[in-house]
Amino acid sequence: MPVIAVIGAQWGDEGKGKIVDLLASHAQMVARSQGGANAGHTIRRGDRKIVLHLLPSGVLNPTAQCLIGPGVVVDADELIEELAEIEALGLSLKGRLTIDLRAHVVFPTHKQIEVCQEKALGNDKIGTTSRGIGPAYCDKAARRGVRVGDLLNAETRKKSCSALYEHHAKALKSFFKEQPPSREEFLRQAEKWAEALSPYAGDAVRSLREAVAADQTVLLEGAQGTFLDLDLGTYPFVTSSHPTVGGPVIGLGLPPRKIDYVLGVLKAYCTRVGSGPFPSEMEDDMADMIRQKGGEYGATTGRPRRIGWLDLVAAREAAYWNGLSGWAITKLDVLDGLKSLQLCCEYRLGGNPLEGAPLTTHDWESVQAHYEAHPGWDDGRGVREYDALPANARAYLERIATFTGVPIQMISLGAGQEATISASNGPFHL
Ligand code: IMP
Repeated sequence: MPVIAVIGAQWGDEGKGKIVDLLASHAQMVARSQGGANAGHTIRRGDRKIVLHLLPSGVLNPTAQCLIGPGVVVDADELIEELAEIEALGLSLKGRLTIDLRAHVVFPTHKQIEVCQEKALGNDKIGTTSRGIGPAYCDKAARRGVRVGDLLNAETRKKSCSALYEHHAKALKSFFKEQPPSREEFLRQAEKWAEALSPYAGDAVRSLREAVAADQTVLLEGAQGTFLDLDLGTYPFVTSSHPTVGGPVIGLGLPPRKIDYVLGVLKAYCTRVGSGPFPSEMEDDMADMIRQKGGEYGATTGRPRRIGWLDLVAAREAAYWNGLSGWAITKLDVLDGLKSLQLCCEYRLGGNPLEGAPLTTHDWESVQAHYEAHPGWDDGRGVREYDALPANARAYLERIATFTGVPIQMISLGAGQEATISASNGPFHL
């Protein structure tokens, strides 16, 4: 299976890190195409927990080439820290990491502006990760952003960074009444980044193209999830990039027909961090229990995640928008031991059933989830064969597959790599 896109089908935090990590041990290349250090992909190695924000999860496979595409916004300080952490594990990235020269750079002032923007929104705040993502993509769209390639040439760096500095300093001082850093500090940082990133800077699009031409196994590692997509998600409570399958097409210059398989990652229940509509959000007591059991706290911010029942209406939309070939269902074990569960199978608006997802913010906020009750099951944790799962757990999975029209290829029943079932007739039989 040469080119596989791994896409989050909910509001992020679906458990993509573990799935990508599993598949990455069979891949020759792993690429990130969108988002930035707002992502938090948690990977476990024995007792050790590794959280990657910017580097593709493939860095842990010592032979995989890793790409950061033009669609990513690069927080250089974070990246330098992650590079050091990975090297401390004895894994070298020299010669196997390419950061595209066209990727935009996130400055500390992007984060400062974001904090001011969120503060100004008060109760209407988006609840962002404060990683400067929105302001960085905003500068990119406004065509005043600084790209990795601009950093490398002293003259271009000075010119592009000075222009961006002027803009940020003015916004901070005049609009938010905040003190910006000094121009010297701003430029000094950019120079430091140029030095640290230059060994890795290059043409990720070309590297991907060559890998595809050579029929290599390539993983396209999605960050965030479908309903955080800037165009298709619960706007304005979304991120500023495209976590849907278009992300790698645009953000890595990959022709859509070169994607052989789109694996949707769906947690067995729903979570979301930050504000915004969440139709299947559950009652506090049940949510607390699942949050504890599932360790549902943000990998980037540590915030407690909001918890909801599995939303099949949203999953079916995600399946269509992304052209999903198969599902990886994660954290099924977290639901073990519940007496009964709810599955959201319909959205109603003013009492009327809705076709698909709401289109406006108002409708997203007003929509009511309607549920199908599903009987619970006991403990399925030690199980490593689909047929050995409790019957009600299998029925739950089968309902997901029939409702969405997408077959289930992988099931994750715990954080460890061994706690995974893959369909014996599927492409990911590991
Ligand atoms: P931003 O991406 O930091 O601008 O945040 C925008 C929204 O996306 C907020 O609701 C965040 O909580 C959410 N978000 C961003 N990245 C992730 C992620 O990796 N997992 C889950 N939610 C995320």
